[in-house]
Amino acid sequence: MTRVLVPRVNGLCYGGDYNPEQWPEEVWAEDAKLMREAGVNLATVGVFAWSALEPAPGRYEFGWLDRVLDLLHGAGVAVDLATATASPPPWFSHRYPESLPVDADGRRLTYGSRQAFCPSSPAYRQAALALAGALADRYHDHPALAMWHVHNEYGCHNPRCYCDVSAAAFRDWLRDRYRDLATLNEAWGTAFWSQRYTGWEQVQPPRTTTTTPNPTHLLDFQRFCSDALLALFKAERDLLHRRSPGVPVTTNLMATGNFAVLDYWRWAPEMTGKDRLVSMDHYIVPGDPVAPPAAQVAYGADRTRSLAGGPWLLMEHSTSALSWRPYNPAKPPGQLIRDSLSHVARGSEGALFFQWRASRYGGEKWHSAMVPHAGTDSKIWREVVTLGGHLQRLAEVRGATVRAQVAILFDHESAWASDGPSQPSAEMSAVPEIRRWHAALWRMGVTADFAHPAHDLSRYHLVLVPSLYLIDDAAAANLHRYAAAGGTLVIGPYSGIADERDHVRLGGYPGAFRDLLGVYVDEFFPLPPGGTVSLDSGATGRVWTEHARAEAGTTVLASYADGPVANCPAITRRSVGAGTAYYLGTRLADADLAALLASAGAQPALPGAPPGLEAVRRAHDDGRSYLFLLNHAGADAVVPASGVDLLTGATWPDRVTVPAGGVVVLRE
Ligand code: GLA
Repeated sequence: MTRVLVPRVNGLCYGGDYNPEQWPEEVWAEDAKLMREAGVNLATVGVFAWSALEPAPGRYEFGWLDRVLDLLHGAGVAVDLATATASPPPWFSHRYPESLPVDADGRRLTYGSRQAFCPSSPAYRQAALALAGALADRYHDHPALAMWHVHNEYGCHNPRCYCDVSAAAFRDWLRDRYRDLATLNEAWGTAFWSQRYTGWEQVQPPRTTTTTPNPTHLLDFQRFCSDALLALFKAERDLLHRRSPGVPVTTNLMATGNFAVLDYWRWAPEMTGKDRLVSMDHYIVPGDPVAPPAAQVAYGADRTRSLAGGPWLLMEHSTSALSWRPYNPAKPPGQLIRDSLSHVARGSEGALFFQWRASRYGGEKWHSAMVPHAGTDSKIWREVVTLGGHLQRLAEVRGATVRAQVAILFDHESAWASDGPSQPSAEMSAVPEIRRWHAALWRMGVTADFAHPAHDLSRYHLVLVPSLYLIDDAAAANLHRYAAAGGTLVIGPYSGIADERDHVRLGGYPGAFRDLLGVYVDEFFPLPPGGTVSLDSGATGRVWTEHARAEAGTTVLASYADGPVANCPAITRRSVGAGTAYYLGTRLADADLAALLASAGAQPALPGAPPGLEAVRRAHDDGRSYLFLLNHAGADAVVPASGVDLLTGATWPDRVTVPAGGVVVLRE
């Protein structure tokens, strides 16, 4: 049976962050009228309202919020009510200065911005839970309440705190993991450079030190920091489940761009299941070297869908320009709608923005919104109204899922470890490489999921491993089993190198995958910055090469034609049981990577689609299927597909014209 993420809202969700506390009450009535006009049905209220809700310790002022919720309810707008715990007010930080976060250099940061708290602070936790509890008690049966929005973007500004309170919490976390110091010393390899600990009190967060810090110390601290914020989320979530039962709870993740500070694979199981949903915020990086804007949207959506294991909700994106980058381009006409519908195509149950009304003051006054400074006589407002209509016409898509045949492996711990200090090449960062492989698939029109190396991968024809430096034995065996059972694996360089303690696997690289791939490497030969090598297939390698040999039974598909390891194998293939494992010993140039992925079996959702035409399918379990066609190019596209366009009602018998910059959603 289809699971409805936000039962209070009919159809797809539409709206954004609504911050009425920034405006005089006369504006609220206009807000409600305009929300109706745009078809808004969900507003996120109170995200940064702590100081308005609790102006003094324990003194709550809910009158204004009562009026806002009543007004919205009267206008037919449901509320995603925030627990308002993302930004403690000045009175709190002033009263509990030890709750302010400390950076690795020992500097205590001060308040005056947002998220200025230490994740392990007992005072913060207590005050946050008290506020969330008071909100739950007051609003759990308000007719406008559709869902709870815990905190906001955990870890956006305070992912790591190095204070003494955090140090104690870190030691507790380490005691849980290792039980005794001997095991910790072994795991951290503290025989190196005389780092052996002889008392727990000596163990500190990895504060700034003289030179290269201990990599496993850093890695464990990153694991701890992710868990510390997760514990805060779980505490608020559990309180809401108790005191506001039956109302869905979420927090907005940032599974986007290069952000990988929290281990979302550990968060996802805490955000799925009864009365929970996964939501995400997405902002485009202008001029990103890896992926064009539309591919960045697809990446965030595909990752979030994979975390959710099905439909999810786009909690924030922008109608046009951001305000927090050095250069903040506006979106050209049509992009607002394409971006929103691309998220919907990839499983979002609607589209919400930051924010409803553009602020007049404060640090985000130049951020675009649904109601811009200019008001309703504006390109943005006209597109906002059009999008509202589109989403109403797409209501039947709710609950449909995207089924990908390709999975890309993403492991936060591995990414943290390969970004650790003193690597063979600083250019071997994992996340940008994972994004590059995803972008290659996006250009090919291939829809992909993301998965963790320990997941059941059996539903995928093809599993891609762009960069997986660290892997434990169980996950390595899982990949072996996947291939042996008939799957196809494509593994990129600097994978399988270390175990979960970041200890190098001995006896030749790529350690955990040596037998699987039938490849033996005795030395890495990273290329100088910007360097390339030629392969005898005509392909180009970048960043990395290695001195390798192919074992008996391994086919060499291409060897290096020049460079430091000329004649060594660069690309190999080996049969593994009923399946196949490819190895890439270098980072192939974009076009060559795409060709390799196509030959390994990556299939586009719509064969024959022209470049710039994005095609994604969402289908219900009963077979009702929708083909989203998004034309990012400057010319009309004619594609082989048929059905009824839900947006216009037009019937296309065998070929569809998707206007330049436009979108067609076919009920197939
Ligand atoms: C994040 C935050 C919002 C706002 C936007 C601006 O997503 O959650 O409060 O700051 O960024 O892009």
